Amino acid sequence: MRALAEARTNIALVKYWGKCDPQWNLPAVPSLSLTLDGLTTRTEVWLDRQWTADSLIVNDVALHGAPLERASRHLDRVLGPTRPRARVTSWNSFPTASGLASSASAFAALTVAAAAAGGLHLDAERLSILARQGSGSAARSILGGIVVLGVGTPGQPDSARATQLCAPEDWPALRLVLGIVSEEPKDTPSTDGMNHTAMTSPYYGPWLAAAPGDLRQAVEAVKKRDLEALGTVAERSALRMHASALAADPAVVYLRGATVEGLHAIRALRAAGVPAWFTCDAGPHPKALTDARYVAQVAAALARVDGVRRTLSAAPGAGARLLEEAP
Ligand code: PMV
Repeated sequence: MRALAEARTNIALVKYWGKCDPQWNLPAVPSLSLTLDGLTTRTEVWLDRQWTADSLIVNDVALHGAPLERASRHLDRVLGPTRPRARVTSWNSFPTASGLASSASAFAALTVAAAAAGGLHLDAERLSILARQGSGSAARSILGGIVVLGVGTPGQPDSARATQLCAPEDWPALRLVLGIVSEEPKDTPSTDGMNHTAMTSPYYGPWLAAAPGDLRQAVEAVKKRDLEALGTVAERSALRMHASALAADPAVVYLRGATVEGLHAIRALRAAGVPAWFTCDAGPHPKALTDARYVAQVAAALARVDGVRRTLSAAPGAGARLLEEAP
């Protein structure tokens, strides 16, 4: 059996940072994200009992070692340990070298394609629970628009899944502008960064304590389509996440000069009356939440920051979907 699926990446506006159960990849904090149109991964899964090993090709390059093992483990999760071997072929619509190639769209697309290739008809809830075990943020890319991922209960693998709060067409003017910074030394992977923060940062406890309040305010803001309220929480949540990581021992530092200058550029725009709020993930790229009418201004401000090579902008996008299924 063969199946082709696609999923879009997402950016958290209330950040997931910390696990309450690393074995089942259960989040210790709730998160809220925007699925991004145009930043798409397409993944094809072929299953054949005659093959003796899995293979993984991403953007025409065969991958071995850790990425292949991670994909194989995920196929075991979706299809069970007695599954046929798989040939997984994946393409990103956005340049992999930009450092945006996200595990969110990758594991969401892999989950949907693998389930269909295995003849499983799973609903979004089940797909989200499975995708989460590959990568926390992937749970959210199963759904489109604005999505919430809840906190898990330790030892209960089904206890955290994503739900949609607002469909893409219900807030069509929302935009995320991304400033792409050249990435020299490789980032600390998010799982390592968050586990190290949890173990060594004196700010991890306060981070956990503040997260439910940030989620509540963000949900209220989304319900009212209040960009200013949502942007205010988003900027605060991102900076709180980075503050907890910066206080780890040794520090986990994702921020680069261009990230911090991006933050100042966005705040300066805001002081001049442009609705734009900063966010940033486990990498150096400054990003801004804004409205479609201000994209050109926000992108121009980020493009002027030293170290920002180019910018992208994205509207709310749809959830993961199956494109083809064949025997
Ligand atoms: O899904 P993971 O394990 O790659 O972790 C995502 C962590 C952040 O991107 C920094 C925050 C988030 O909520 O997406």
